[in-house]
Amino acid sequence: MLDSPCFSGQVRVEENTFCSGNIFRMRMSCSEISRKADPGQFIMVKAAWQQSDDPFLPRPFSVHWADSESLEILYKVVGRGTRFLSRLRSGDRLTVYGPLGRGFTVKPAGEYLVIGGGIGVAPLLFLARSIRKNQPESHLHIVIGARCSDEIVAADRFESLGRSSVKLVTEDGSRGLKGLVTDLLSYFDFNNNNLLVYSCGPMPMLKAVSRWCRGKDWPCQVSIETVMACGIGACLGCAVEGKDELNGKYLHVCSDGPVFDSGRLW
Ligand code: FES
Repeated sequence: MLDSPCFSGQVRVEENTFCSGNIFRMRMSCSEISRKADPGQFIMVKAAWQQSDDPFLPRPFSVHWADSESLEILYKVVGRGTRFLSRLRSGDRLTVYGPLGRGFTVKPAGEYLVIGGGIGVAPLLFLARSIRKNQPESHLHIVIGARCSDEIVAADRFESLGRSSVKLVTEDGSRGLKGLVTDLLSYFDFNNNNLLVYSCGPMPMLKAVSRWCRGKDWPCQVSIETVMACGIGACLGCAVEGKDELNGKYLHVCSDGPVFDSGRLW
């Protein structure tokens, strides 16, 4: 089991902004989490009124952005819990705990390629800012893919990081190149062996990105999204099959991840 989260309690919703499609961004004040969180870590949010236990289980959300006083999550409305979140207003209060999990490892490199699919961009903005801050001379390439233009979010915020190229791809061609993220990757011509790849998105996309990286011999870290009941390694409900027979075949996304070297999974 992981160490206990450094904060557990109620926080104030500062802003809950509709982005596009059914995607929202919520900013909440909690310096205890925002000052401690690393890119790729997540928080658990009880998506119900304090006096209600319905839905009973808290939900995991990646830290999308953090500063000294507040943090943001980016979420898609997919069911009752996220619909509840989308109705909250500034001043409402939520129960959360975190930060949790093992995040991205940012090592020095000449170039970084950050690939997000759909709502999978959520942890990548915080990561990209960390790369830009800690490796100011490096080249940062961002690829964002989605089914349609409504599902492309945060592209302007990635662009505002500076010294980064942002490329978009949609399956229906309504924004950017028409096709899949992996179609766009074939246009890249990296002649730098010193490249690190980071990705988050749907599992088939992550597997394809991982395959592509393996073929080029580029290290790749992926952030996995799963259903989580506890977020702290206690319920064992977030197990995914890994490749490492020696250290146990199953990995727990909340405590061993959610970020993994892709070679540990596929
Ligand atoms: Fe409970 Fe991972 S969510 S063990």
